[in-house]
Amino acid sequence: MKTLITGAAGFIGSNFVHYLVSERPDWQVSALDVLTYAGNFENIASLVESGKVEFLKIDITDREAIEDLFKSEQFDIVFHFAAESHVDRSILGADAFVKTNVLGTQILIDAARAGKVERFMHISTDEVYGSLDSKGRFSENSPLNPSSAYSASKAGSDLLCLAAFKTHGFPVIVTRCTNNYGPYQFPEKLIPLFITNALEDRELPLYGDGMNVRSWLYVTDHCEALVKLAESGRVGEVYNIGGEEEAEVANLEVTRLILKELGKPEDLIKKVADRPGHDRRYALSCQKIREEVGWQPTISFADGLKRTIDWYLANSDWWKRIKSGEYLEYYKKNYGAREGKY
Ligand code: NAD
Ligand code: DAU
Repeated sequence: MKTLITGAAGFIGSNFVHYLVSERPDWQVSALDVLTYAGNFENIASLVESGKVEFLKIDITDREAIEDLFKSEQFDIVFHFAAESHVDRSILGADAFVKTNVLGTQILIDAARAGKVERFMHISTDEVYGSLDSKGRFSENSPLNPSSAYSASKAGSDLLCLAAFKTHGFPVIVTRCTNNYGPYQFPEKLIPLFITNALEDRELPLYGDGMNVRSWLYVTDHCEALVKLAESGRVGEVYNIGGEEEAEVANLEVTRLILKELGKPEDLIKKVADRPGHDRRYALSCQKIREEVGWQPTISFADGLKRTIDWYLANSDWWKRIKSGEYLEYYKKNYGAREGKY
């Protein structure tokens, strides 16, 4: 099986590359990434250097390069992770989100169709459904109602994939997952940001009242779901992928758990101005994937959080290198305006 993974040097993409090499050792893996601020070659360097994985530095919005790739190599499956993925950055400026997430996805669809791929796995997000209050959960049939330029651009890319199925019979599966956490997550997202800030005895900027709820899924559980769906999911379908009910946790509680595990004081928590358009709660019904492919999460939030904290403790060189340069400029832009505004 020849597999192309886009966004392979990012958080979930790089975990997925490691997962495939270990769980499907007979699959040939090509890892594509243009290495934006969020992409880190280091995440997969050992596998590339040992010859287990081919690395392709290509921008998915470069139509010519993508078309040439699909002409020169015959891929059976594409796992499409590449995206601009951070909501706060999409609030500061949306152009890159529209370009990569919408145009980049269409370019891949066109090239993969011409290259006759057998499965195109489009990795999307629960954020396309918008926000819930304290009750209920979204199913695959819930209407799309995104709140940010990030989630709107992902919703657009989902619709392009499903349209390609209807128009051309393009063999796509769209997956919508809840919040992932684990190793190699860029320290701008809640869990790695708060772990690394706490380790540096810096403030943890909690948005609004801290009672927004996310449904957390350990990244290898997501990887397993994607492989199972690629092997036995139905094309043209959408599948939700989510954590168990016990993993639906308010941000304040997540923050307290991190501080407790690290033995740091709660006065590091600083409530700051809320994220504009901040979705209150995400929760998914995952009956479809459970019944059709027999997948459910295996790692509890308590266990996954402990593993994640241990990874950041053991890999301080990795995140200290990232928290410099462009990162500091972004931090000032995003958090400078929020100081003391809550
Ligand atoms: P990430 O930001 O860590 O990684 C994205 C990767 O895509 C980076 O390596 C980046 O260099 C690459 N990339 C960006 N633009 C590119 C381009 N034009 N050409 C080639 N490569 C490009 O993101 P992530 O958290 O790993 O998310 C991966 C995918 O999963 C995204 O599509 C995201 O929408 C989706 N998703 C993420 C989560 C989550 O909790 N992180 C949950 C559900 C779905
Ligand atoms: O739900 C899936 C989505 O999860 C993915 O599609 C996105 O790519 C991914 O970034 C994530 O989006 P969120 O916006 O939920 O993740 P983030 O880590 O940015 O924020 C999680 C929660 O924590 C959210 O309620 C906002 C809050 N938060 C976040 C940051 C960065 C804070 O309170 N303070 C912060 O500094």
